[in-house]
Amino acid sequence: MQPLAELKPVVDEAIAPERPIIQVSGLDHVYPSRDGPVHALSDIALTVGEGRFVVIVGPSGCGKSSLLMMLAGLRHQTAGTILCSGRPITDPDPDRVGVVFQEANLFPWLTAIDNVAFPLALRGVSRAERAARANAMLELVGLGDAGGRYPHELSGGMKQRVSIARGLVQDPPVLLMDEPFAALDEQTRMAMGEELLRIWSATRKTVVFVTHSLTEAVYLADEVLVMSARPGRIVDRMEVELPRPRTYEMMAGAVFGRLRDRIWQQIKAPAR
Ligand SMILES: Nc1ncnc2c1ncn2[C@@H]1O[C@H](COP(=O)(O)OP(=O)(O)O)[C@@H](O)[C@H]1O
Ligand SMILES: [Mg+2]
Repeated sequence: MQPLAELKPVVDEAIAPERPIIQVSGLDHVYPSRDGPVHALSDIALTVGEGRFVVIVGPSGCGKSSLLMMLAGLRHQTAGTILCSGRPITDPDPDRVGVVFQEANLFPWLTAIDNVAFPLALRGVSRAERAARANAMLELVGLGDAGGRYPHELSGGMKQRVSIARGLVQDPPVLLMDEPFAALDEQTRMAMGEELLRIWSATRKTVVFVTHSLTEAVYLADEVLVMSARPGRIVDRMEVELPRPRTYEMMAGAVFGRLRDRIWQQIKAPAR
């Protein structure tokens, strides 16, 4: 196997996207807590190009969710700026950014279609338009005939599809995903990864996907950003130059293995 040192380091400038859609600079975050301040994120700078599939990978507790919440406008950073389409993100803006979390978080008393349509209902979109758009999104995620089912009638993978449909229903250019498949069994998780890539290529969204799985990161990404243990910093970034569509067989290949090893070298716990 090729030693790591022979892999060309990929520096920021080399993959600076032509058309940035997300620009983060000088991002820092400290949580106050009873046991003293928790420095969660340190000096994060990143640029995401339009239409890219960017995966952020890092150990548990390194600040991935915090970063995503800030990109979504759901939490305010201590310092630094976040721009999306050239304008600061300060509050949730579902026209610019959709979010999918690890738990599908569906309302149990609403059918799949009403769950998907819920963000539109909040904004006073007419009933007919809500139904049409929610239906189109359910079709997109492969659940065209399950709109009338309640969450308890759906499998874990189906619930996550509904959650993706809901994240896309306002047609935001950016979709943020925080370990969306972590609660699924391995087979379903693989299938959902493929499904997500299909949806991504059909919609040309920009996706920022957070995971602690090295394999999932390499399988999905155009570009992987690696975060260190807390305080989270971006310690490496790499292009995944595997052709698309990605296939299961690629996972056993040398390129895949080298990239996964390189991530592992960065995130494995330092020897004590
Ligand atoms: N509301 C909070 N108050 C205090 N500490 C928090 C809070 N949320 C997260 N943290 C801490 O910040 C760090 C990063 O958390 P998080 O962003 O959830 O990491 P990850 O998603 O990578 O597992 C962790 O040490 C966590 O305990
Ligand atoms: Mg998390």
